[in-house]
Amino acid sequence: MVRKYSVKELLNKGKFFIDKKVLVEGWIRSFRHSIFITLNDGSTIRNIQIILSNNKSIVKKITIGSSIRVIGIVKKSIGTKQYIELQSVDITIYESVDPKILQKSILQPKKHSFEKLREQAHLRFRTNIFSCIMRIRHHIAFGIHKYFHKHGFFYIHTPIITTLNCEGTGEMFHITTMDFKKNKIIDYAKDFFKCKTYLSVSGQLEAETASLGLGKVYTFGPVFRAENSNTSRHLSEFWMIEPEIAFYHLEENINLAENFLKFIIKYIVDNSMEDLIFLNQCLEKWNQKKKNSLLEKLELILKYPFKKISYTEAIRILDQEEKKKNIRFLHPIIWGMDLQSEHEQYLVDKYFKIPVIIFDYPCSIKAFYMRMNHDGKTVRAMDILFPEIGEIVGGSQREERYDILLQRMKDTNTDKNKLWWYLDTRRFGSVPHSGFGLGFDRLVQFITGMNNIRDVIPFPRVPNNAEF
Ligand code: 4AD
Ligand code: MG
Repeated sequence: MVRKYSVKELLNKGKFFIDKKVLVEGWIRSFRHSIFITLNDGSTIRNIQIILSNNKSIVKKITIGSSIRVIGIVKKSIGTKQYIELQSVDITIYESVDPKILQKSILQPKKHSFEKLREQAHLRFRTNIFSCIMRIRHHIAFGIHKYFHKHGFFYIHTPIITTLNCEGTGEMFHITTMDFKKNKIIDYAKDFFKCKTYLSVSGQLEAETASLGLGKVYTFGPVFRAENSNTSRHLSEFWMIEPEIAFYHLEENINLAENFLKFIIKYIVDNSMEDLIFLNQCLEKWNQKKKNSLLEKLELILKYPFKKISYTEAIRILDQEEKKKNIRFLHPIIWGMDLQSEHEQYLVDKYFKIPVIIFDYPCSIKAFYMRMNHDGKTVRAMDILFPEIGEIVGGSQREERYDILLQRMKDTNTDKNKLWWYLDTRRFGSVPHSGFGLGFDRLVQFITGMNNIRDVIPFPRVPNNAEF
């Protein structure tokens, strides 16, 4: 039996295998001079070169994109590009791709637009760029679990099906097993759950209840928002990480978020350099960005403490800048307004030039569960704004005082009957606690330097598109 290796294993350990017989499988990336095949199996950005020796009969079937199995002898490469190559002994073609079909596909080796790649999302895993992004996405997810595990957090699975909108904003997707045509007046008591249900926008409220028993927990799952936001930073289905910690104040929450984000970015710099270098080269080519801009951008996050300012301070800076520098924001600067992306971008990309954490927002623009400050006007909220991306984290210290929480629910028209269990936690040994939500896909977007969030998730769900 010949042992099977991934391309990555072969290229990494190949020098110990010289003159050994090995088996490797993958898809053909190029075929030159009827003898040189480059093969990739997704395990790495690098390809292995195969020298076709005897199977001349199959030359015609060897086309780009075809899937093959190769048994070959590892040889020290004469070329300078790679250390080893494979001298083929036996090649089996699983399926060869018809060159006519290939021409229309994104597997045809030439530059394709990201839009085109999205149209063939089922094939884009086979491209260099998307496979790089997917490998990095994996490492980010793995790093996240690693961080929390190391710090004593428990991974909690919160429900996807819910009866409430925890954020209180935006539209939600309904779920039902009823046929609406037949039931013109919808009686949800007859529906599957005997009530109106939705896809959840956040696992926070359930995570809070878990933290109030387990101490430190986090969720990492898909969430759904039916806002009609057709932007490069919004998905209708995205992944969110939500840690929740008992006996934690806002300052500790902010420090955790900063420490966590830096850990992940360091983890990727340490573990995905090969893919980062490739992406960096692509970005230089396409966006005419300066050399190493992606790596420098990541290093910059690690280098300095994030800037921490209150919402009131942020408004003051924006107002002053508008007066001093003669800039006009589309949305006028008034205390109490929600910060728009133009304001966030100004603060992060122009003013501070490092990530910014804004805290103590007006209660009128934030969710009911955030802890009220003594001023009676602001809540213990915090948002982390990143260069290029804008808001990447949203979090807060939670309102742990029963009466004040109840009042906030009334003020924000939040149904207290549906949330009886949430309120109940404030009557059974309530404690100060805090947490935040990190947009996973936005983090992947930031780390990979992609302009559009749709290019960092395998199958994007956005308004008007749920294909694949
Ligand atoms: O600020 P958000 O809405 O916060 C919450 O949902 C809280 N319950 C989190 C918590 O405290 N446990 O969302 C959190 C993050 C945002 O900062 C953003 O990064 C991301 O989720 N996000 C989106 N990412 C992609 N597409 C969308 N439509 C997003 N909406 C929010
Ligand atoms: Mg937010």
